[in-house]
Amino acid sequence: MIDKVDYSVWLTKDRLTIEDNLWSNAQYHADFGAQVRAQYPVDRLARVLEFGCGPGWLIPHLGEVEYHGVDANVQCIELAKSRYLDQQFSVGDIRTWSAESEWDIVCAVATTKHFALHEWSAIVKRILSFAPVAVFSQPIGLVNFDTGVEFPHVFVKETTCLAAIADAGHTLILVACISGNEIEPIITTAKL
Ligand SMILES: C[S@@+](CC[C@H](N)C(=O)[O-])C[C@H]1O[C@@H](n2cnc3c(N)ncnc32)[C@H](O)[C@@H]1O
Repeated sequence: MIDKVDYSVWLTKDRLTIEDNLWSNAQYHADFGAQVRAQYPVDRLARVLEFGCGPGWLIPHLGEVEYHGVDANVQCIELAKSRYLDQQFSVGDIRTWSAESEWDIVCAVATTKHFALHEWSAIVKRILSFAPVAVFSQPIGLVNFDTGVEFPHVFVKETTCLAAIADAGHTLILVACISGNEIEPIITTAKL
């Protein structure tokens, strides 16, 4: 359950510096951002919703957008707000958060893997329901596997992932392995 999870690891000194963070995510976020930007509408600013936005690592890589970031961690959202004054943020749980606004693209970086297998498909379906296009990263394995360490790091079978995408009324349009990270590909889907 989210209230038992300690995400303070995301707030260490290293993690707070975009250029020099613990998992060298700067390149990963840059590459992820490129995948999101490839889906922007050509005639207006894209409206981008991000779940599990953390302190906003992805934002510098999105270009000019109308952005709304959601994260369950209050500290992350406070930090993101202080860094990106022009953008919108909410403290919220993916399981329950909702809003009236519409978005062109919903994304989630390194977030869906933190849900246990029993709810993984429902979480992905919920995320995809927010926009006609979705971009998210997810470790894929030959077998469904929950590492069960610290907090869930869930690998899902390709078939599980495809079924959740189809159940959301989306279709897979691109899988990109970037930054040399073949374990956690970036998955782009669009509404059928
Ligand atoms: C591995 S971090 C990734 C953070 C950021 N996307 C990045 O790439 O650095 C996972 C994020 O998901 C958030 N998170 C976990 N469970 C959540 C939930 N149920 N609802 C919203 N956010 C959640 C955590 O607070 C954390 O910021």
